[in-house]
Amino acid sequence: MKITDIQATQILDSRGNPTIKAVVYLDQVVGDFSVPSGASTGTFEALELRDHQKAFLGQGVEKAITNIETIIKPVLLGLDPTNQKALDDKMIALDGTSNKSKLGANAILGVSGAVSRATATALKLPLYQYLNLLFDHQGQYQSAYRFDQTKCQLPKMFFNILNGGKHAENNLDIQETMIVPQKESVSLNIQIASEVYHTLKGIINRRHLATGLGDEGGFAPDLESNTKALDLVAEAIEQAGYKLGKEVAIALDVAATEIYEPNKDQKYILASENIGLTAGQLVNLYKELIAEYQIISIEDGLAEEDWAGWQMMTEKLGSKVQIIGDDLFVTNVERIQKGLEFKAANSVLIKMNQIGTLTETFDAINLAVKNGYRVMVSHRSGETADSFIADLVVATKAGQIKSGAPARGERTSKYNRLIEIEKDLAKKI
Ligand code: PGA
Ligand code: ZN
Repeated sequence: MKITDIQATQILDSRGNPTIKAVVYLDQVVGDFSVPSGASTGTFEALELRDHQKAFLGQGVEKAITNIETIIKPVLLGLDPTNQKALDDKMIALDGTSNKSKLGANAILGVSGAVSRATATALKLPLYQYLNLLFDHQGQYQSAYRFDQTKCQLPKMFFNILNGGKHAENNLDIQETMIVPQKESVSLNIQIASEVYHTLKGIINRRHLATGLGDEGGFAPDLESNTKALDLVAEAIEQAGYKLGKEVAIALDVAATEIYEPNKDQKYILASENIGLTAGQLVNLYKELIAEYQIISIEDGLAEEDWAGWQMMTEKLGSKVQIIGDDLFVTNVERIQKGLEFKAANSVLIKMNQIGTLTETFDAINLAVKNGYRVMVSHRSGETADSFIADLVVATKAGQIKSGAPARGERTSKYNRLIEIEKDLAKKI
């Protein structure tokens, strides 16, 4: 097998901003990948190359597309697509910077993802099976490898049903309030999430609050305080007929880098409540919320450079709940390594476009798992209908995924793909 052509097109993401759809050809076989885009991005993420020209208010990605077609394509043409690691390493070397700022992480990831999908198709393997073989064999496929379904795993799903922060125009400081149904089955958990989501809509409606949605498909009403958001979600869970904590748990992504003011004494600003808190005070607040609302997981509870704070938070809360680093780790093995040394967090969020290749995504997952950290694969707030991460989470045995609300096509494409994979796996037992 050989790579015979690579093309890229500028398409729109779910927020209406340009992004890249890359297409890789292996003779007659085609594979594509559409690149997502964040809004509350971490400072240490790989660079998303934008044009900064008049078109699309500066958001165009034509330069990145030109980089695919004129720099990446000539180097990859004719190469073996089953050696994903070699191809990713080539693109990393071609870029030559530490954050992929020359070619753009969006350009590189588009090709990296599309190669793997084209190869899976050419081998007549479902994407999750091919990714699983790659993941288990250092990014290099050989025809003797056989898929073993005990080496993959369906994930727990985290549904973001109430949006705030940078993802909505409302006043809530906490970016994501998620529900986590606790059944074994993917399709049943999706059913439960859908029921709670619609129950929440009814509650919001009856209170005459705004039923508009945030970027990840969750509701985005203005509320008196952040705890009122938790009250609403807890009420929706119970009204839908489920036991809070037992059948449906709550998880938060605070995205605290966005509320961090490094030059103030009380560095964490909860604008909706007009208060500032120190890291210690904020962690104490989390402790109360965990007890009251059965919260099982807090992502980015503190800012991306507050390492001392993360250390303290992990010490105080890490034995009770999952403490996830997103902006803190940015899917980057160097940052995860630093986290391990500092004993900061106990879990890692994984977003392919934070780092820019499939191989480096595998590396980040491997490092986390090897050191006892838990892993959650994640969408971005700006998404496309591409369902790649559903296959990725199953293939890598990451165990957890978040893909926004159980509504809106770009969010449900991932959940719906997991339903398909669940059926597929059930057939093979
Ligand atoms: P982002 O948000 O895609 O806007 O970065 C998702 C998250 O913070 O987890
Ligand atoms: Zn986050």
